[in-house]
Amino acid sequence: MTRIVLATASADLESRFRAATGGTLLALPPAAALADPAHLLSRLDGAGLPEVVALDADPAAEHALRLAALLDEQCPQIAVILVTEQGRDLGLAAIRAGVHDILHPRAEIPEIQAVLTRAAQTAESRTPPPTSAQAPASVTGRVISVVSPKGGVGKTTVATNLAVGLARATPDSTVLVDLDAQFGDVASALDLTPEFSLIDVVHGPATHDSMVLKTFLTLHESGLYAICGPSSPAASDTITGEDVTRLLQVLAREFHYVVVDTAPGLSEHTLAALDETTDHVLLTSMDVPGVRGLRKELDTLTELGMLRPSRHVVVNFADKRGGLSIADVEATIGVKVDLQLPLSTAARISTNQGIPLVMSGSRDPLTKQLRRLVDRFTDGQGSAGARELDRRRPRRGRRDAVAAGQDEHELDRRGGQRDGDVVVSPGTEAGIGLPVAPAVQRVTDQPVTADGPIPMTRRLMRLMNRAAGAQEHADRESDDRDPRYRGGERSGR
Ligand SMILES: Nc1ncnc2c1ncn2[C@@H]1O[C@H](COP(=O)(O)OP(=O)(O)OP(=O)(O)O)[C@@H](O)[C@H]1O
Ligand SMILES: [Mg+2]
Repeated sequence: MTRIVLATASADLESRFRAATGGTLLALPPAAALADPAHLLSRLDGAGLPEVVALDADPAAEHALRLAALLDEQCPQIAVILVTEQGRDLGLAAIRAGVHDILHPRAEIPEIQAVLTRAAQTAESRTPPPTSAQAPASVTGRVISVVSPKGGVGKTTVATNLAVGLARATPDSTVLVDLDAQFGDVASALDLTPEFSLIDVVHGPATHDSMVLKTFLTLHESGLYAICGPSSPAASDTITGEDVTRLLQVLAREFHYVVVDTAPGLSEHTLAALDETTDHVLLTSMDVPGVRGLRKELDTLTELGMLRPSRHVVVNFADKRGGLSIADVEATIGVKVDLQLPLSTAARISTNQGIPLVMSGSRDPLTKQLRRLVDRFTDGQGSAGARELDRRRPRRGRRDAVAAGQDEHELDRRGGQRDGDVVVSPGTEAGIGLPVAPAVQRVTDQPVTADGPIPMTRRLMRLMNRAAGAQEHADRESDDRDPRYRGGERSGR
């Protein structure tokens, strides 16, 4: 069945279209009320992508022509029909806007049917066969998830700076997904006012088509595409782990880099993202609770077989004055620290102003380290490209304040805090050896419960039990090969 949309204010035209289509028509308000394809598609209430869109161009033809041109560019598989009595005058403009056919507003039902049938055939010929849609696309991007067990340790700061750095190093390469579905603040960190959020891309027509999905992304001035978190925390309940999986898989086919900002801990959404992740950025603050939390998270991911070889352990708020050294941190987490991000006033100012540090042209040590993080993914092209862009970019507005190092005290006041106010974890003595946190209880020893040290979601419990099952299976197999065991029965022990 052909999916047909008619955008009109005319009840008479709508009723003739209904008759022509046997009632299978989705009627929308006129083109003037639909700013762009994403607006149009978001009003389809989850229906699939239409094959034919008829736009009533009277009386304001310019809106209809503009929307037709955008549909042609962003959703080329849709055949657009212009309904107008100015067919002769608008002919050339309509061709340029990629319009498939023109229909008079007083056309009779048989004529409407004939035009819709031709348009549907064209749409069908433009739609790629299902097999090629499922075939692996040319890009298999890296999915980089920024995770930490604790909140407020700089995940959004790192994710936004990394994503902006990657987008500037390779244009059109990067999308940032705010997976902190309840309290995500990517939009604020990038000073964006998104029209569409995570909710819109995981529900509705964007789920069926990657071209449509792209129309729901928010473009940042750096060239980064962003999917911002929903405006209401309650909306996150409607997003499942499967939604996250499908979204990241589609994005990885379209972008070289998919950077994922996450909520603290191992939520359902984070675990789904980690399943799709190629590169972990594991973040901790430089204090005892943060470091111990990271140790537990590393243990859990190892236990689940989810820790990727490509991982980047980052210590944020690095400051010797807190009484911990990097050697202490490494001894506790049992792996090398790859990057230290120093405690810096510039971070808070940048967060409050919505201007990522890597765009500021600042020589602040934190900014330098964030550029180094970008370089880890671009073989050093990131900071070189960004510096070149900084030279070319005219300075203006809020960015100037940071870049030009405007009266630091004034900025500090506006940033709300000075360095001395940022307290590194109290209660630690210089040179203290951190106790090694016990590994997460092995699920084979004791069933996993929901009140473990890290909030355990149902998905996490499922995964842990799956991992335990796999381990038991492996144990049984090695038992079978062991001459001391016979027929699964242990003997001689
Ligand atoms: N190296 C740093 N020095 C000083 N302040 C920092 C540093 N890194 C981040 N911050 C500040 O710490 C605050 C929390 O950072 P951010 O929002 O990035 O953390 P988060 O882990 O995403 O938090 P949440 O878990 O709530 O999402 C912000 O105000 C940010 O500017
Ligand atoms: Mg955050």
